[in-house]
Amino acid sequence: MKHLPIIALDFPSGQEALAFLEPFEGTPLFVKVGMELFYQEGPAILDALKEKDCRIFLDLKLHDIPTTVQKAMNRLAALGVDLVNVHAAGGKKMMHAAVEGLESGTPAGQSRPGIIAVTQLTSTSEDMMNKELLIDRPLQETVLHYGQLAYESGLDGVVCSVHESKVLHEHISPSFLTVTPGIRLPNDQTDDQKRVATPAFAKEQGVSQIVVGRSITKAENPKEAYHQILKEWE
Ligand code: C5P
Repeated sequence: MKHLPIIALDFPSGQEALAFLEPFEGTPLFVKVGMELFYQEGPAILDALKEKDCRIFLDLKLHDIPTTVQKAMNRLAALGVDLVNVHAAGGKKMMHAAVEGLESGTPAGQSRPGIIAVTQLTSTSEDMMNKELLIDRPLQETVLHYGQLAYESGLDGVVCSVHESKVLHEHISPSFLTVTPGIRLPNDQTDDQKRVATPAFAKEQGVSQIVVGRSITKAENPKEAYHQILKEWE
C-alpha cells in the first residue's frame, strides 16, 4: 500500500483542528502540523493527535545556522513525530547538522523521525525565482540540485512539486522520498500554489507521498473529499 495522503491541518487553533478531525474518528490518518497550529498550541497538539493514533509530519521548515538547527532538531526528536523538515537552501552543513541533532535527540528504543528538505516552495514560480530571488537557472535544475545536496547530507527525501518527482527519482534514487504539496482535485481553486497537480497525476509520476490541505479542509464535505483523494491515490 502507498503511504497515506497527509492532511495539512492548517487551522488557527487546536480546537478547530480537532473538531475538523471528528468525522474521521476510526480512520487511520497521517496529518501535517504546520507553523500556525504549532506556534499557537505547542507540543500539546501533537499529544492530542497521537491520542487519536494520527501519524504526524511536523512541518516547521527549519532554516538557520547549523548549530541552531542541530539543537532544535535534538528537541523536536523528543516529540515523537514521524516526519520533520528543513529548507535545503540552508546548505549541506546545516542539513547534516539537522540529521545529527535528530539522531542524538531520539529517545532510546525509538526510531528517529524521517527528515526531508524543502527544495523550492510550490508557491514559487520559475519567473519569481529568476527575477525576484535572482536564481538564474531553470526551476527544475535548482530542485534537482537541492535534492542532491539533501541526499548527500543523509536526509530521507525532499518536499517538491509533483512535476519534479520523476526527475529526482531518476537522478538520485527511487527510494528517496518525494513528498508533494500543491495537490488539487480537478475543479478546485489553486489558491496561492503555482505548481499544482491532481492525486492521479501524482501517482502516475511515482510521488512517494502527497500533502493535501485546502482541497480537504475547505471542501463542503471533507471526509468525502479525503476519500476521493485516497481512491485516486491508491
Ligand atoms: O492547502 P494546500 O493543499 O495548498 O496546503 C499545502 C500545505 O503544504 C501547506 O500547509 C503548506 O505550508 C505546505 N507546503 C507547501 N509547499 C512546500 C512545503 C509545504 O505548500 N514546498
